[in-house]
Amino acid sequence: MQDFILEENKRLKEKFLWRNICSLEKSLCHEIFLNGKKYINFSSNDYLGYAHHPEVIKKAKEALTRYGSGGRSSRLISGTIELHNRLELKLAQFKKTEKCLVFPTGFMANLGVISSLLGQGDAILMDRLNHASLIDAAHLAGCRIFIYDHSNVLSLEKVLERTKSYKKRLVVTDSLFSMDGDLAPLKEIVELCKKNKVWLMLDDAHATGILGKNGIGAAEHFGLLGEIEIVMGTLSKALGSQGGFVCGSKDLISFLVNRARAFIYTTALAPAACAAALQSLCLVEKEEWRRKRVLKLSFDFQKELEKRFSDSGNFRKQMSQIVPFIVGSAEKSLKLANALKEKGIFAPAIRPPTVPKNESRLRFSITSEHKEGDLKKLADCLEENLKQ
Ligand SMILES: Cc1ncc(COP(=O)(O)O)c(C=O)c1O
Repeated sequence: MQDFILEENKRLKEKFLWRNICSLEKSLCHEIFLNGKKYINFSSNDYLGYAHHPEVIKKAKEALTRYGSGGRSSRLISGTIELHNRLELKLAQFKKTEKCLVFPTGFMANLGVISSLLGQGDAILMDRLNHASLIDAAHLAGCRIFIYDHSNVLSLEKVLERTKSYKKRLVVTDSLFSMDGDLAPLKEIVELCKKNKVWLMLDDAHATGILGKNGIGAAEHFGLLGEIEIVMGTLSKALGSQGGFVCGSKDLISFLVNRARAFIYTTALAPAACAAALQSLCLVEKEEWRRKRVLKLSFDFQKELEKRFSDSGNFRKQMSQIVPFIVGSAEKSLKLANALKEKGIFAPAIRPPTVPKNESRLRFSITSEHKEGDLKKLADCLEENLKQ
């Protein structure tokens, strides 16, 4: 085993795929402190700045004082507190579904849902760029995995045709793709699923709190509220907390309570995380200006990139707060990330297996706390580096 570990570590380093965990002294969504130096941060999914919002922190502290720090045990044994119930009620109301179930992370929510709904003899139909947690969930389920081309409705249609003989089928897609910032063509996907009488599961992790007039997510953005059978999300991105959730019918949620091993055999979500997410949801309802600001900052920044890099192929315009800047090789993307770091900008290189080979990139996460000047500095530094 030791030899395997050493060889694998060496291989990753040689291929510029080695990853380090960097230890931050202070971390805000738009600003971090590392080795005593301040950086503008473009790596955080705390898109609305709620992780440090005073009202969110106040509620989390109250929950800590009242319920203690940990979840104590599985919710089915002795873990459910009224905060779990309130959070699930609020999330179901927010997403306009009958019920909701909270998991310790979004990753576990995906594992729990897919591995309990599907098994041998069933088929899952997935977008090529779906999140790793969905792919791992499909493997855990032991069902047949069918991949359709990224956001390609014709390709999905063909896969639906090919899989007609399967006992149960589930189509699964990210709504807002985490490394590309683009949106799945949900209207067409929903239409196809209905036509084929197949359920759709949406991973709304990056759209929750951001997309739609009320920040409900991609279903609201596309006018599809109530049309998607399973909507999962995470509390760890725009809601600035920790944890995952699944929204759907009351029958689906009761089934998951009884069958989802990632819910049954794990400790309940910590009270402070529940209280923080609950408060963030209240703020999402009150503070439309934050999601408007995030998207405006992102669109203005992308206009600037378009002006400067339209011919370079580095940049694809997106309708979201996630802006990828494609570099190509892992080595080049590391070099660019390091060059930006020297200028006080923190935007780590995203490399395989997170993204396909030769599509290594920097991924800029825009938040409501960034200033226009932060984005101008980023565009200037990118231009300066690419000219060299
Ligand atoms: C699309 C998507 N789904 C699920 C997850 C998992 O969520 P969590 O971080 O809460 O485990 C992530 C997180 O990176 C994600 O980007």
